[in-house]
Amino acid sequence: MGIETAVNFDDLRRAAKRRLPKIAFDFIEGGVDGEGGLPHNERAFAKHRLVPRYLIDAMKPDQSTTLFGRTYAHPFGIAPTGGAALFRAGADLMLAKAARAADIPFIISGASTATIEEVAEVAPAHSWYQLYNARDRAIADDMVMRTERAGLSTLVLTVDVPGHSNRERNRRNGFARPMKPSLYAKVEALAHPGWLAEYYSSPGLTTSNWVKYAPPGATPNEVLDFMSGQHPCAFTWDDVIRIRKLWPRTLVLKGIMHPADATRAATLGVDGLMISNHGARQLDRAPSPLEVLPAIRDAVGDKVTVMFDSGIRRGADIITALSLGAKFAFVGRWTLYGVAAGGQAGATHAVDMIRKEVAFVMTQMGAPDIAALGPDFLMWDNDADRMRNRRP
Ligand SMILES: Cc1cc2nc3c(=O)[nH]c(=O)nc-3n(C[C@H](O)[C@H](O)[C@H](O)COP(=O)(O)O)c2cc1C
Repeated sequence: MGIETAVNFDDLRRAAKRRLPKIAFDFIEGGVDGEGGLPHNERAFAKHRLVPRYLIDAMKPDQSTTLFGRTYAHPFGIAPTGGAALFRAGADLMLAKAARAADIPFIISGASTATIEEVAEVAPAHSWYQLYNARDRAIADDMVMRTERAGLSTLVLTVDVPGHSNRERNRRNGFARPMKPSLYAKVEALAHPGWLAEYYSSPGLTTSNWVKYAPPGATPNEVLDFMSGQHPCAFTWDDVIRIRKLWPRTLVLKGIMHPADATRAATLGVDGLMISNHGARQLDRAPSPLEVLPAIRDAVGDKVTVMFDSGIRRGADIITALSLGAKFAFVGRWTLYGVAAGGQAGATHAVDMIRKEVAFVMTQMGAPDIAALGPDFLMWDNDADRMRNRRP
């Protein structure tokens, strides 16, 4: 059955689960601690209802959205996901191509297999680079300068990895550096011959961006070890100030969750924030980004562009985040499941699926374009009183 038969997020997730060994699938799906954060992210959307308006022509909704002075075809993009080559050889560039074809942004991860320069060649006008800080700040600074030389428009600093996170699935499976797959993980992988054949006939999980900094002649595995030795590392406001001076184009902080941090970022000349809890992969007890979004919007107003990710499983989730004040939304697992399950066709299909779901919802609720979205469309569970007071 071709990947095009997948109808929604769950279908892609199931297709990825079938193709991938458990050790790899768990790395995508998993959260931290008891994994309460994962359903919490998803449930936050379901608390909101979209109240439709009729007698408006919204049959062909215009999804185009202007972000940092550039207009994209849709109000969503692809969030950075590291280690993607473990799930599909060449995944980074497949996602970049899918983004280019759909005219949406793609953020290449600081733990990617493809390099900054490669992604800039494939999708120069759509790729952003996500930087993890490095213990050796000279490496982080050099990556910033490479991103500038490669001509990318936007640098994203991921600030929500202040230390190792407790990913219990990975620990159980033996997914670590160095890799120590459990006996069960090894045996279970044999049931996925398609993945095994592709993975072992490709360069595998390499981090080519780092070859330049590792000791000369290092093998791909040694480069990976070198990179692991640089992470996680503290990331402070001083780093933001330093990088702001170094990077002349659009600067985004990813992982901001507190209104006071958002305000501080705005005063330091940061252009955008991605409100995110890393897809519930860092602090299990963190609120859903949707819960903090209104307070952050109130705190920063239009001083800085507020974007959103974590827990998006439906086009209606994107519409809800936008109606609550986010300017743009990003998906992580949705497109990653697509590319893992179906390669290039899967990445393209996932993006198309999201585009269509957004369109369906806009038509059904009576929103002819993105500018029409706003809190007037929203109703909370048990919020009948608020409905009575809403303006005509
Ligand atoms: C397998 C995987 C790897 C990820 N790697 C990174 C990364 O390298 N850098 C980063 O900033 N975020 C990373 N994230 C987080 C995503 O960018 C994004 O915040 C998250 O996936 C959004 O939640 P969602 O998956 O529910 O859409 C990763 C997420 C997943 C699932």
